Amino acid sequence: MRKKIVAGNWKMNKTFLEAEELVAHVAEDLETRKLENKIVVLCPPFPYLELATDIAKDSKFSVGAQNVYPEDSGAFTGEVSPPILSSMEVEYCIIGHSERRKYFEESHEFLARKLDSLLKHNIIPIFCCGELLPERKAGKHFKVVEKQLNESLFHLKKDSMAMVVIAYEPVWAIGTGVNATAEQAQEMHAFIRGLVEKKYTKKLAGDISILYGGSCNAKNAKELFSNPDVDGGLIGGASLKAEDFIAIVDSL
Ligand code: 13P
Repeated sequence: MRKKIVAGNWKMNKTFLEAEELVAHVAEDLETRKLENKIVVLCPPFPYLELATDIAKDSKFSVGAQNVYPEDSGAFTGEVSPPILSSMEVEYCIIGHSERRKYFEESHEFLARKLDSLLKHNIIPIFCCGELLPERKAGKHFKVVEKQLNESLFHLKKDSMAMVVIAYEPVWAIGTGVNATAEQAQEMHAFIRGLVEKKYTKKLAGDISILYGGSCNAKNAKELFSNPDVDGGLIGGASLKAEDFIAIVDSL
């Protein structure tokens, strides 16, 4: 069954005490809510994962990492492996974020390896895709997203693909205050679902969750989430304030 998900990507924000406060505040607010088939995921920086998984045990949210290195163990100074994440009860991991593609030059092939390594350890990948502004202006956005899926995701067998969550994050909308319109989001999400159907099955395409990310906030979330192919959001800036994040959860 298709799941509705709101995930907060904190990126490189919050000190330890601030993180503690934010996790506690979100946990407390979620306590008063009936989430039914909604899933809430917090993705704090690596050092705060234990704090988050500890609180998550008695709360209504799951924990995700923002990155992973695609080897089980070894001499990779500074990196974190899927077995480390799963040993800390981390259930999700963001990969393919445009910031990692841009600043860390992560290639399609490297992302495919990350995906395989996460799935091997039963961690749910939140796979990000999305076009740059000049690509959208040139009308190439569908081609760009199709290539990202083809090169990093579509090598997966059906059972593995069924575990993946896709996040469409147009790069021009990330952190800019300019979100994709509800129509633009719906159009791309339907396109992505169509690609999954062509490559796999109608059932799998119907079951996969496709999140929207990029300047999604408490004001625009309801309209974005009201589209039939938008199954929730991957939230950056607005996940850093508990009230805003919870308002987005309530919009789903
Ligand atoms: P903003 O919500 O800050 O635009 O960031 C979106 C994002 O990159 C989530 O991964």
